Amino acid sequence: MVRMHTPALPSFTAVLAALFMLITGCAPGPAQAESRQYESLYDKRGFVVPVVNPERGRALFVGKGCVVCHQINGVGGLAAPALDVDTEEPYADMFDFMARMWRGSSAMIELQSMELGYQIDLTGDELADIFGFVHDRQEQMQFSVDDVPDLIRDWMVDERYDLLQDQEEQE
Ligand code: HEC
Repeated sequence: MVRMHTPALPSFTAVLAALFMLITGCAPGPAQAESRQYESLYDKRGFVVPVVNPERGRALFVGKGCVVCHQINGVGGLAAPALDVDTEEPYADMFDFMARMWRGSSAMIELQSMELGYQIDLTGDELADIFGFVHDRQEQMQFSVDDVPDLIRDWMVDERYDLLQDQEEQE
């Protein structure tokens, strides 16, 4: 219901509100304003930022095979740049991380099909968790060879990708 502070004469807006109620059969008020706002937000669909879980990211870094080519805390392959926390970076930028992956993608995909025989597939949530691990010093300090099963350890690439490319060209 519409609340009025002056009970004597209904104000112009109150009359309008009453008419509105008669016509639409419902009371206008804060609730409706809110739901309209929600609807317009819903129309634009807004942005969704996944929950970042660095601990899960640590497992995914191994499970998804990133560790075959990238090192963290001294553990991993040497094919590509190490992904230890960059302490110079003032903040962890999710989109910048993805842009860097995008930049490295052609080399990464080529090497992945050579080394793993497939292209690594990631959901948005998995990528967010890996992003978390790549930007969490505490979590990285706990990362050790014991996190890596023997099978994956055997796959680790021990040379830079550009050296591997040179070798292929010579063959
Ligand atoms: C088979 C090898 C391989 C695997 C597996 C791999 N990468 Fe890469 N990655 C590369 C190569 C090669 C580059 C390009 C390096 C360059 O351009 O100098 C790269 C580049 C990157 C970069 C950009 C590095 C920079 O310094 O800007 C990021 C970030 C990255 N990879 C993340 C990942 C993540 C996360 C995974 C796991 C989901 C992964 N990579 C799996 C080989 C690999």
